[in-house]
Amino acid sequence: MIDKIQETAEYIRSKVGEMPKTAIILGTGLGALVDHIDSKKYIPYKEIPNFPVSTVEGHSGNLIFGRLGNKEVMAMQGRFHYYEGYDMKQVTFPVRVMKALGIETLYVSNAAGGMNKEFRVGDIMIITDHINLFPENPLRGKNDNRLGPRFPAMTEAYDHKLIGLADEIAAEKGIRVMHGVYVGTPGPTFETPAEYEYFRVIGGDAVGMSTVPEVIVANHGGMKVFGVSVITDLGGKDVTDVPKHEEVQKAAEAAQPKMMEIMRELVDRAE
Ligand code: HPA
Repeated sequence: MIDKIQETAEYIRSKVGEMPKTAIILGTGLGALVDHIDSKKYIPYKEIPNFPVSTVEGHSGNLIFGRLGNKEVMAMQGRFHYYEGYDMKQVTFPVRVMKALGIETLYVSNAAGGMNKEFRVGDIMIITDHINLFPENPLRGKNDNRLGPRFPAMTEAYDHKLIGLADEIAAEKGIRVMHGVYVGTPGPTFETPAEYEYFRVIGGDAVGMSTVPEVIVANHGGMKVFGVSVITDLGGKDVTDVPKHEEVQKAAEAAQPKMMEIMRELVDRAE
């Protein structure tokens, strides 16, 4: 795998001048952050050797390099989901490449369904921890010690300092932010009422179909991670609403300005 990672990293290096130390995976709810990146350079996924090609509607696949505030950043416009049929190594390949390119901090965003009874649709949840319910761990298989340790700790999978800084920024701007545990599931079904209830009982606050694989691989590679969810629907045994993809997208879009304000400032102020 390391040969492929190196090949892809070299291709990207040949296209981009200075390499950033910050990467952002623009999930549902953060797509418009691209508009705030200056002097952009786009590399379509389909031109990148060894990169999977994104298949989901509404997710255009590009790597974007440019300046966000005072920081050079690399952004992934579109991610690879397990439910699309990619295996875990494909889903997390871009994070391996980020590490090879010298990225030190990864920001991830997603849309998620809320089980926490305090949550409302449109809330922003800073991810403080996660529960991995994917059927496979992306690190399964022979470990390459050049990529990271065999048994990586996940004690602080989401960087506490970045969480603190995001809280400060949200308070300054008067934006309501919640904290919570993200439950990562393979999808593509939304949950049954009993499943939402079960995820709440085991300690989850929100559930979604992404993020956990990328965060595991980022931690394996020793990167700092910050994650945030937009709560696009609510689930539980007393909730009768039926989540629909279009509604998830609509709710995420509505929350996008708040999410963007926090992320832009956070990336700018982070070390
Ligand atoms: N469940 C799983 N994934 C999701 C949800 C949900 O309710 N909402 C947005 N992504």
